[in-house]
Amino acid sequence: MKHLLGLENLSKEEILSFVEEGEKYREWLDGEYAETRKPLSYLKGKRICLLFYEPSTRTRHSFEIAGRLLGAEVSSFSLAVSSVQKGESFKDTLLTLESIGFDLFVIRHSCSGACLYASNVLQKASVVNAGDGMHEHPTQTLLDLLTIYRAKKTIEGLKMAIVGDILHSRVARSAIFALGKFGWELHICAPPTLLPKDIEKLNVKIFHRLEEAIKDVDIIYMLRIQRERQNEQFFPSIEEYTHLYGLTHQHLSLAPGAMVMHPGPVNRGVEMEGKVVDGEGSFILEQVRNGVAIRMAILHSILGEAR
Ligand code: CP
Repeated sequence: MKHLLGLENLSKEEILSFVEEGEKYREWLDGEYAETRKPLSYLKGKRICLLFYEPSTRTRHSFEIAGRLLGAEVSSFSLAVSSVQKGESFKDTLLTLESIGFDLFVIRHSCSGACLYASNVLQKASVVNAGDGMHEHPTQTLLDLLTIYRAKKTIEGLKMAIVGDILHSRVARSAIFALGKFGWELHICAPPTLLPKDIEKLNVKIFHRLEEAIKDVDIIYMLRIQRERQNEQFFPSIEEYTHLYGLTHQHLSLAPGAMVMHPGPVNRGVEMEGKVVDGEGSFILEQVRNGVAIRMAILHSILGEAR
């Protein structure tokens, strides 16, 4: 695979292979690496550029750590002090950085399709999509699958509720594309104004009441309201949204033993009560831990020789 642009066109076997490789890296991180603190050298001599046009904490830093742990040189592009501020286009930025000598670009951009565009513009370098507009966030879903695989010992035929701002969520789109391939029952829950047009065509069940959506599911997956992508009013007030769609610890009795997940960042007290974020059923920090392992698997698969 030269690029990872999304999960829509990946096969079930390709997705599974990332999860299995991620699991091996997670075992390495917890075992040999925790003991020796010695990085690997599979990507020695390779150069990775983290080209982020939007803010990020988890994705950016876990890719940085993943690249370094594999022996690559990793540079972080700083939008605020780059020549983009002097009017340089996305295309010229890509070609300039490729000429400097990068082998792979991890790209986050506010435009859906920016990563596909980059993969067409670049002559030799690879592209990994770290979130493009409202399109896809494939590495998030892969790390989520690794988290579920470790907890449930399977990623086949589970039942999950995805609750929140589905309309603006690239995480939800990647999840819907991937989980359908594994025979999941997907409950999509949001106010009607925060659902994409024709979403029911994606083989999901639509709910507008949180209590009904989460009943007896294996996983409750909460999403943030993406106010940075909302240029109009989608619901009367945050307070009303929280009242109707915010997950509280009382809700958890409707899905006993369910994993509670969130891609982060969480707006505590909006989509989830702090008590749930920090509670026993929460896998939010485990998702973050698995982010390093899955991104090692992705970088190795694209840039490395066979293990
Ligand atoms: N989940 C996620 O993409 O988080 P960041 O925006 O912090 O990278």
